[in-house]
Amino acid sequence: MPKTVLVAPAWPYANGPRHIGHVAGFAVPADVLARFERLRGSRVLMASGTDEHGTPITYEADKKGIPPREFADQNNALIVEDLRRLGMTYDIFTRTTTANHYRVTQDLFLKLHENGYLVKKTQMGAIDPVSGRTLPDRYIEGKCPICGFPDARGDQCDNCGNQLDPIDLINPHQRGSDAPVEFRETEHFFFDLPAFGDRLMEWIQKHDDWRPNVRKYSLEYVRNLKPRAITRDLDWGVPVPLPGWQDNPHKKIYVWFDAVIGYLSASIEWAVQRGEPDAWKDWWQNPESRHYYVMGKDNITFHTVLWPAILMGAGDLHLPDEIVASEYLNMGGRKLSTSRGQVIYVNDVLERYDPDALRYYLMVAGPENQDTDFTWAEFVRRNNDELVATWGNLVHRTLVNAHRNFGAVPEPQELTDADQALIKQVEDGLSSVASELSKARFQLALKVALALAAKVNVYLGTEQPWHTIKTDRGRAGTVLYVALRCVDNLKTMLTPFLPFSSQRLHEMLGYTDVIAPQPVVREFSEDGVVHRVLTGEYPIGDRWLPSELAPGHPLPQPQALFKRLDDVVDAEEELASL
Ligand code: MF3
Ligand code: ZN
Repeated sequence: MPKTVLVAPAWPYANGPRHIGHVAGFAVPADVLARFERLRGSRVLMASGTDEHGTPITYEADKKGIPPREFADQNNALIVEDLRRLGMTYDIFTRTTTANHYRVTQDLFLKLHENGYLVKKTQMGAIDPVSGRTLPDRYIEGKCPICGFPDARGDQCDNCGNQLDPIDLINPHQRGSDAPVEFRETEHFFFDLPAFGDRLMEWIQKHDDWRPNVRKYSLEYVRNLKPRAITRDLDWGVPVPLPGWQDNPHKKIYVWFDAVIGYLSASIEWAVQRGEPDAWKDWWQNPESRHYYVMGKDNITFHTVLWPAILMGAGDLHLPDEIVASEYLNMGGRKLSTSRGQVIYVNDVLERYDPDALRYYLMVAGPENQDTDFTWAEFVRRNNDELVATWGNLVHRTLVNAHRNFGAVPEPQELTDADQALIKQVEDGLSSVASELSKARFQLALKVALALAAKVNVYLGTEQPWHTIKTDRGRAGTVLYVALRCVDNLKTMLTPFLPFSSQRLHEMLGYTDVIAPQPVVREFSEDGVVHRVLTGEYPIGDRWLPSELAPGHPLPQPQALFKRLDDVVDAEEELASL
């Protein structure tokens, strides 16, 4: 039975183009998982979109003086383009401003309301004492009451990742100025998180394989659960679907409540677009399916507490299985951040470098297990020493010599013990890499593959088929045959990480089918309103299997797979000056 796998990358805010820190968290690891699962025959649904409501959007739209919808439209287009160019194989990358998403969000809100989990309460809300205007959480700053970080926002602390209430900030003031904040009573719906406390605690405890950061943040949060306001004084968001609220232009559903529901609504939209409106149930109402959520660490508790509680409260919907949360990508010790102007945009990198070079860097040297400093020197070193000198060189020597001397996969003579041992060792790599990848241990997976590539390089260096060809054509052909089989297997292991070059290599090995499909942008019309989605036709295979490259199989003219990067300093300065 093929496995049914949901890959759920966190929804990027539609507040600007993506920088490399963003895509190191939610995007590239998710695509690696999705591609890997499809290669081994799983039915994958990778569903997400842009997160377009709430103050993260209104704050920036206000600064630009344009309506939030227009601002979100512009940024959705930019983000879709970033993700397409990076080769992110979303089955659907949609938006939270679709009619479908509004409907699904409101349905879940009503279901929780009916089930008694939503309580109306008055809260202290922040206002600007001068204008009397409500101040959304994000418009307030102060010292974090948990870690003491001086620039925490009212909704969240960027330093410790905790969700906050503005009233708990020490010395709260308006963002970007010293203007004071006053708190006044306002009515909101609260989600009764404590009602799920025991179930959540048990469920989190049970997942002792989650990354340490995920367990730590989640357990801390669950130990101290409070009812959480899930409506806001704001005019941009999903309307609250209850009499007296629905038409109040100043009350909306809290952005995080609607965003997490996006995973479900996008799955439903995908099913509708395919003309199989019930197809989403194979993922969401199926205890056998596996759900991977992929994000940066500041998103953890939304996915391990808020979203599971919504799912529990609604009943009958699949809970998260894996929470793949990375740490931060820093530069000079500080988090990459658009608002602080410390940033490298994906589109700028892709103007200059191949997407596989960026994908590789982010996966091999990114913040999988700890905060990591990005440097151009390391980017160039990884590209030159590993992609070019180890993997690219192996491919190049093997293909050039096989093509030049045989024009096809050579017919091997009897294999020596060493030949057989090498083939076997590389084939075994398929299961080691699979076992690391299924636990989202990307860096270990890459280590296995690269170490095997280095071994095959050593083998070629010892056997020197380019010399033996002059004296013993039979032996040279055998060695190249062994190397070709190894290259073909390593290609399979690296395809999830390096889809662009792996597809080219696949073709250089004489195959004509698609091993690494790419996404496309389509328009989808919903009640006459058109929105853009990133989607694609991604064949699922039984491809995570040892190479059966047959002798005599013709080999076309090989091309270089990767480019050496020489001008570190130039590249660095060029990008820094953007
Ligand atoms: N937009 C949020 C961020 O960038 C992530 C939302 S993930 C979802 O931090 F679960 F809410 F969708
Ligand atoms: Zn903090």
